[in-house]
Amino acid sequence: MKKLSIIDIANHLNVSKTTISFILNGRAEEKRIGKELVERVQKFVEEVGYKPNSLAKSLRTGKSNIIGLMVEDISNPFFSAIARLIEDRAYKNGYKIIYCSTDNDTLKTRELINMFRDRHVDGYIIAPPQGIEDDINSLLKDGMPVVLFDRHLPNVNADFVEIDNLFSTYNATKHLIQQGYKNIAFITFASGQTQMQARLQGYHEALNESGYKPVVQEIIFNQNEDLIIAPITNFLKKNKKLDAVFFGTNHVGTCGLKVINGLGIKVPSDLAVVSFDDYDVFKLFSPPVTAIAQPIEAIADSVITVLLNKLNTSSQHISSQSIILKTDFNIRESSKTATS
Ligand code: RIB
Repeated sequence: MKKLSIIDIANHLNVSKTTISFILNGRAEEKRIGKELVERVQKFVEEVGYKPNSLAKSLRTGKSNIIGLMVEDISNPFFSAIARLIEDRAYKNGYKIIYCSTDNDTLKTRELINMFRDRHVDGYIIAPPQGIEDDINSLLKDGMPVVLFDRHLPNVNADFVEIDNLFSTYNATKHLIQQGYKNIAFITFASGQTQMQARLQGYHEALNESGYKPVVQEIIFNQNEDLIIAPITNFLKKNKKLDAVFFGTNHVGTCGLKVINGLGIKVPSDLAVVSFDDYDVFKLFSPPVTAIAQPIEAIADSVITVLLNKLNTSSQHISSQSIILKTDFNIRESSKTATS
């Protein structure tokens, strides 16, 4: 039996090819096509077993209606929450998402970008590791829509969405100082990424204003949690004079709390605690942990909105923009002094 095309379906149902295409590409809501017509088309398509030939369509139209999403680690709750929100918004606008994890590995990221090129994705959303500048500049030179998020690459003129990392840690460190803490450590991953450097700088600037000595422990990023817990354990055992500790990400924070429990350290009387990235476990810890909450919904919404604007605007000469979002500082018992 001859394979049905979109034109056959349109003629049979006496509906325009464009309308059929919008319905089959999940864009009925966006194009305000009535529910009754959508159901009539979907019922017929199911009855005749129509399967759109996506490769032929993408070669013909130059569009695959696929977006490539590259995060550091899709199993990390921060990135998976954002990925899910991006996927929902993209689908409502007729796009499917292929996502993958870079593990902050430049070579792996290069391979994944090439895979996305082979799949003819229409646009890229990337939380980039360092060292991938040339590959992203090449995508931009080829006119590919690219949006970076969570960190940016100083030598790449791409749109990006970040949070105000420096102010967030500056403000949280000032809070610890105002609570009377003076020997405040910052434990974070060793990283030249812009968001991690900004957090470290915010900590230093707050301490410098009060003349307090910074005490920093930078840990090599590792999937194996034991290799994060061990250096934090040694650090806290060695630095008995600390009265507060600031963890630079959710991952370091959860490992840090395991160490604090393991060493029988009382919070906040022995050691006050603040962590970047608010997280259910921080609310459940005893006492609940003061944390900087990133605006997950706003990050996802900003990223997909910028990309869709680029996808729906033929001109590629839109000047790149940076969107810097604010965080919430959720003060809880772990950073309060007995008197406060
Ligand atoms: O693991 C997620 C953390 O690292 C978040 O702070 C996010 O900003 C990323 O950089």
